[in-house]
Amino acid sequence: MATRFTSSAHAAVSLPLVTAFLNQKGGVGKTGVTVGAGGALAEMGRRVLMIDLDPQGHLTCEALRLPEADQDGPNLARALTGEYEGPIQDLIISRPSYDGGGQLDVIPTTLAMFLVVRDLYSRRAPETKLARLLEQLPSDAYDHILIDCPPSLDILTDTALVAADGVVIPVQPSNTSLRALRLLIDQIAAIENDLRLPRRELYGMVPGLYRRPLSGIQRFKMAELERYTLPDPDGLVEPLPILAHLPLATIVEEAWLSGEPVTDYRPSAPIADAYRKVALRLDIAAGLSPAEAWEPEPFLEFDPDGPHHEELYVTDSTEDAAVDGVRAHAEGA
Ligand SMILES: Nc1ncnc2c1ncn2[C@@H]1O[C@H](COP(=O)(O)OP(=O)(O)OP(=O)(O)O)[C@@H](O)[C@H]1O
Ligand SMILES: [Mg+2]
Repeated sequence: MATRFTSSAHAAVSLPLVTAFLNQKGGVGKTGVTVGAGGALAEMGRRVLMIDLDPQGHLTCEALRLPEADQDGPNLARALTGEYEGPIQDLIISRPSYDGGGQLDVIPTTLAMFLVVRDLYSRRAPETKLARLLEQLPSDAYDHILIDCPPSLDILTDTALVAADGVVIPVQPSNTSLRALRLLIDQIAAIENDLRLPRRELYGMVPGLYRRPLSGIQRFKMAELERYTLPDPDGLVEPLPILAHLPLATIVEEAWLSGEPVTDYRPSAPIADAYRKVALRLDIAAGLSPAEAWEPEPFLEFDPDGPHHEELYVTDSTEDAAVDGVRAHAEGA
């Protein structure tokens, strides 16, 4: 039987599609988009399981206001290390169903997740632990599994990569983003090679946590990120589409305070539509929504018909510089 380790793509529609929200850079919006897309999928009637793989527990305790799992009971940390061998269902917090059959359940974090990293390194095939755990779920229990990853490239992130069919990369238009993105893509390729995994699908980036209007530097950085959506003439870098834009919105903080996804808290908010767009892309990947429903996100800053990237100029290096003037080196970011 094909498993997550051998299947070349999301092989059977009856399996949940597993998506990792991943960037080793901290505070780029991983948890926000995991919960946002999860809420949007549940609103569409999909059954979603979110996994809070981050020991910081922001998805569990901040975004959804749920309790951490009991240290001594069934919890994710003990399940990953093999200390808990009971049913995976006992790890899950089941939230009320949505009209239309949607579900947004959670495997919460627990304090012991901080210690799991060290523990896992001493075990055999540690990278496969999360995938093995998820294989215990009945194949028709969920349509989507969303993994909120910690801001690191450690063994926990590796477990998410092994378990995932594909990856969503939240990014911020800031100085270090492009470098972080390249590092991340290298890491994904390294794990695939080391473990002889089929290619994980990179669904795309989700730029977020920026204020409108963008400062000059942010516009330049956004243009750099958007340029990633174009095929590289040498074919060395795969185009990475932009799935949606998630600028700073007070409504997100309010929704977190109320412990609800934005699509529940304020379904009419513009940012709710952005989360719906990410959700739609994943639902297409799961084979549940038609591919024609997808439209690429328009460029905010990069004009593919305008000057070539290397010809973009910025006036100076201050935050508010305009994107014309002093030359910025394409690779130097
Ligand atoms: N679009 C948004 N508008 C306003 N605030 C947001 C938005 N998205 C996320 N936030 C807030 O910004 C903070 C950082 O976002 P988030 O926790 O999603 O980032 P992260 O990448 O998961 O961080 P970490 O790397 O620490 O896990 C959180 O407090 C969150 O509530
Ligand atoms: Mg987070």
